[in-house]
Formats: sequence, C-alpha cells, structure tokens
Amino acid sequence: MAYQIYPRSFCDTDGDGVGDLEGIRAHLDHLVAVGVDAIWLSPFFSSPMADYGYDVADYCDVDPLFGDLDDFDRLLADVHARGLRMIIDWVPNHTSVEHPWFVESRSSPDSPKRDWYVWRDPAADGEVPNNWVESLTFGPAWTLDPVTGQYYLHCFLPEQPDLNWANPDVASAMADTLRFWLDRGVDGFRMDVVHLIGKDPELRDEPPEVAGLPHTILNVRPETHEHLRTLRKLLDSYPGDRMAIGEIYLLDTELVASHYGNNDELHLCFNFPPLYSKWNAADWRQRITETEAALSAVGGWPTWVLSNHDNPRHRTRYERGLGPTSSPDDVRADGELIARAAAVLLCTLRGTPFLYAGEELGLSDAMIAPQRQRDPAGRDGCRAPIPWDATPSHGWVKDDNWLPWPPDSDSRNAESMVDDPTSIFHLYRKVLALRRNTSALQLGSIGLLDSPPDVLAYRRSHEGGFVSIAVNMSDAEIDWMPGGQVLLTSDGHSARRTLGPYQAVIVGE
Ligand code: GLC
Repeated sequence: MAYQIYPRSFCDTDGDGVGDLEGIRAHLDHLVAVGVDAIWLSPFFSSPMADYGYDVADYCDVDPLFGDLDDFDRLLADVHARGLRMIIDWVPNHTSVEHPWFVESRSSPDSPKRDWYVWRDPAADGEVPNNWVESLTFGPAWTLDPVTGQYYLHCFLPEQPDLNWANPDVASAMADTLRFWLDRGVDGFRMDVVHLIGKDPELRDEPPEVAGLPHTILNVRPETHEHLRTLRKLLDSYPGDRMAIGEIYLLDTELVASHYGNNDELHLCFNFPPLYSKWNAADWRQRITETEAALSAVGGWPTWVLSNHDNPRHRTRYERGLGPTSSPDDVRADGELIARAAAVLLCTLRGTPFLYAGEELGLSDAMIAPQRQRDPAGRDGCRAPIPWDATPSHGWVKDDNWLPWPPDSDSRNAESMVDDPTSIFHLYRKVLALRRNTSALQLGSIGLLDSPPDVLAYRRSHEGGFVSIAVNMSDAEIDWMPGGQVLLTSDGHSARRTLGPYQAVIVGE
C-alpha cells in the first residue's frame, strides 16, 4: 500500500497556512498506524506555484514554503527509520517558465538552450502551429513569445513549457536530477505524465475525432519507450530496489500496459479507467477483466487508485452518483457505507493500492466558495487541509489556511477517527493487516465469481490459499454470500447470511 501526500495540504508547522515537510515528519506514526508501506510526496521543489508545484523551477531544491534540503534529509531518515519507503514526484514533461533553462531558451533563437523546449514559427495564417489544446484549462497548447515571435508548446498551463526530450542534452540533464535524489536515498519516483515525453516529431494536427482532447494520442511514441528503458537502467544501477511508477494518463489499459515494456521500462503504471468508473458492479467487473487481460499479457503488476489530488475524492464522487435525496443526511449515511466498502475493494484487488491522504478518515471534498478557489483547473476540493484534531486549527498552526477545511472536521479528524474503534480508520488498519498476513490477498491471482448483478465478487488464490471478496454496490440487502468463514465486514456488522446495503465482506475458505 502506497500513501499519497500532497504536501501543501498535509500539515503546516510554520504558520504560513501551507503544509510543509516538518508537518509530514510530525505525522509519520499515523502512517505506520494505518499500515502503509511507502509514501509518495507530490512536488515540494522550488516553484512559482502556477500549478502548485507541478511547475518546477529547480528540480534539486526544496521550495522555502515546504522547508529546505536539511528538512528533507531529516524526513527521509525518519521515514526509513520506520521501515517505510519514500517515493517523490518527478516532473519530466515540462518545467516552470521560471526554470533557468527556459529563461535562457526564450532569450534568443540562438540560445544554446533554444532547442531544450519546443519552439515553432506561427502557422501561415499567423496562428498557433497546430490544433493541440492544453490539459488544464483546454486553451491552446501554444503561447506566442513576444521576445522572438515564435510559439512554445505547453501541454499544460502556459507557465509549464514542454521540454524537448528529442534533444539528448535534455534527457541527460533530467537524468542528473534523478541522480541527485537517488544519491540522497529516495526509493523511487512517481513520474508525472511521463507518457508524453516522446513527442510527435511532425507536431501534426490532431485528427478531428480527437481534436480538443488533451494528452494528445499522437504523442504515443516509440521514443518514449526508449527514454523509459534508459531511465530504468539508471534506477537499476543504484543499490536497493529503486522504483518508478509512471502516471500514464492514457485512458486505455492496453496502452498503459505497454509502458511496463519487457520488464525493462516502468515498474508500475497508474491505470485510470477504474478511477473514472462509477460505483457499479458491471463497470467494475469490466475494469478488473480488462486490467487482468492487459497486464498479464506483459507480466505487469497492476495498481489501483480511487482518489488523488487531481479528482474529487471517491467518497464525494460516489455520493454525487447517488443523486438527490429527501435529506442530505441520507446521502451522508450512504456515503460513509460506500467509502467503507470502497476501502475493502481498494485493498483486496490484485496489485498495489494507492491511498490518497485523508481517505483513511473517510473525508469528502471541501466546498470552496468562488473567492477561495485557487486551482485554475478546479481541483481544490480534494486538496483541503487534513484535519488532525478537533481544535479550531485542527492540528495546524492557524484555523484559516490556503484552502478551507473539509466537511465536519470537528468530528471527522484523525484524532477522533483513531479514538473510535468502529471508524473507517480502523477498517483500513484491519484490511491492511489482513492483507499483510494473507498471501492470497497480497500475491494471489484474481478471478471473478458468479454473483447477483449488483454484487462485485472475486476470489484471490495463492498456493492453495483462497480468499473471496464480495462488494454489494447497491442500497438493497442481497441474499447472497460467498461460501466460507467471514473474516471482515466493511460496516462492522457481524456476518449475516446476506449482504447488507453497500456492505463488503472478506471471506476465508
Ligand atoms: C499531472 C499531475 C497534475 C498536474 C499535471 C501537470 O497530471 O497529477 O496535478 O497538473 O500533471 O504537471
């Protein structure tokens, strides 16, 4: 189990209203209590924060908002002392406009770094060089630079110019940034939109049927795989199991699977179709089937993500999916049950689950008033600060921080969840402990079971050990249960012979 921390939102210790590395260090025991194996930190590097750190101005330093390199070393030592591993974010597709490489590149067409980015003359009509759109606000992926009269490419915000990985000097400089952190002892990298680094050399227009969609499919390129093989060799040249997980933002599991290579590219890839699936048994059966088919074809180990810093939390998404009800409290009650069943689902599928900070508290998204919105792509709700206790500042220094608190923080905070043995926090602990002690859950193959339409049921098998999981995705009680002894129920009710509304069970044979 890997646990994603969005540093701005985890815990502030210096009173600037933004989380910091010391805040993460202060809560490592919480992560041990949950039972995570590794943490992934979203960017904490020097950045003007146009995309809250995914616009990097120096890959090899800590932004003062978060602390400094000494704080980082202290944090890494404490993480390792607890037997956890640390993965950090690496943003290879683009830098910030304030990165010295770009500052130099844009200064003149003759700059030695001109070709480190993707510059093009205007099209014949004076307009943008092609029809690509950027992925955050869906504007054009090109910005005209008045200094030289050329456009530069940015698949994300204009403040995030794309690097030109076709230039070997770029590939080599970026490899050095990996070495910097590997030498400091990090265990690996989550590679941001790494499927985009090999660009279509002709920068052709998107065909009409996909024009306007971000993450252009034209950039699915053999060059990317070559780069990934080189990066893998670099990681493998270091002692210990250093690993790379790629954010392959291609909503096609077979394409995602191709980035495992022949076990010589990425160790793991994010696969987002399940993240975008509804809370619906038929959809989930399909996601599991297609994931197994695509990944077993390449011998790849799956990953599972329900929430991250780019999407509404899954509790919020699934609650919205329930539609209007006569009372908001009904929605909340169902939301809690669904969040609990989803915890069992996430932690029992075949593969590595990624848990986004706050899921273990059952958090929903914060409601953000228009004047408090920060992110140009509207992703603030899931980035609300984590409430640690019931005091007005919830374990932060101030009670008013860069974003408002998530709902019900007076009662739904880490301290109250830990104190309540029936809480979702303890459910996560129990499922993860069971997973750790059950080889079928950790390593076993997965097969779907025949079950009623609203029940997602599967069986994990390993060396003669079997465990079945059933998730009732409906609000009705269902007269069905896999055979065997119930080891755990998501709602804490003792085992019945039927599945309760939105109840998940783990059954040993
Ligand atoms: C990834 C990140 C997202 C960021 C984008 C550009 O999708 O997860 O937060 O905005 O890349 O770096």
